[in-house]
Amino acid sequence: MSFIEVVDLVKVYRDPESRLPIPALNGINFTIKEGEFVGIFGPSGAGKTTLLSIIGGLLDPTSGYVKIDGKEITQLTYKELVTFRREQVGYLWQLPEDNLISGNTVLQNVMLPLQIANKPREEQKKIANELLDRLGLSHRKNHQPNQISGGEAQRVGLAIAIANRPKLLLGDQITGELDTTSSIEVVNHLKSFSEEYGTTMLIVSHKRQFIEATDYGFGLVDGKISTVLNNFQVEGA
Ligand SMILES: Nc1ncnc2c1ncn2[C@@H]1O[C@H](COP(=O)(O)OP(=O)(O)OP(=O)(O)O)[C@@H](O)[C@H]1O
Ligand SMILES: [Mg+2]
Repeated sequence: MSFIEVVDLVKVYRDPESRLPIPALNGINFTIKEGEFVGIFGPSGAGKTTLLSIIGGLLDPTSGYVKIDGKEITQLTYKELVTFRREQVGYLWQLPEDNLISGNTVLQNVMLPLQIANKPREEQKKIANELLDRLGLSHRKNHQPNQISGGEAQRVGLAIAIANRPKLLLGDQITGELDTTSSIEVVNHLKSFSEEYGTTMLIVSHKRQFIEATDYGFGLVDGKISTVLNNFQVEGA
């Protein structure tokens, strides 16, 4: 059975001034199986963030629907949607500072989603410490978000996003601000979590390292899927 099912998805924004329609998604259809590591590629303005936001339950489509694990997320009540976002989805954004809460240490940042999920405090600490050790951040646990590098911050963001072992992880140009070495590090960690936890991952990226790491990818142009790329096709790109 498909884990994610996207059917005839359309999103039309309105220009805030003229109110003229801005088509962002023009009828998207695809399915993703549980545990797959999938890329979304495409030029600026193609609709990548819009697509990810709808799948993550952060934005309503104009028409069409998304089913996750057999449930149509556009039909969920507000309360169910909050639970879905909190328990089933991990989000990782492009700007490191968007993934962390300032005023909290790195360790507290990773404990927060576990606290929200009502895990006992000792367990929050244990899981957060283990994740930070695994991500090579043992020496940064007591730092504030503005006292770590961008690459480190993205790894903390990954720890936050994965802490509750969500079924789905959505990432939007998460290595956009990072150099090649840090990007590869993040990609490798994502891949290893995906394999170990069975997390389905849907990652928007322009970077070669990502394209090569995915099981396959969708090319998005003008709000439509233009190509489906597998690694074989991507080689030499
Ligand atoms: N809230 C909004 N209101 C109006 N138009 C919007 C809004 N958000 C996005 N758009 C427009 O919808 C289209 C798709 O935007 P989207 O952010 O999904 O693109 P993207 O593929 O993520 O681009 P990028 O690679 O630059 O992040 C663009 O034309 C954009 O200007
Ligand atoms: Mg975007």
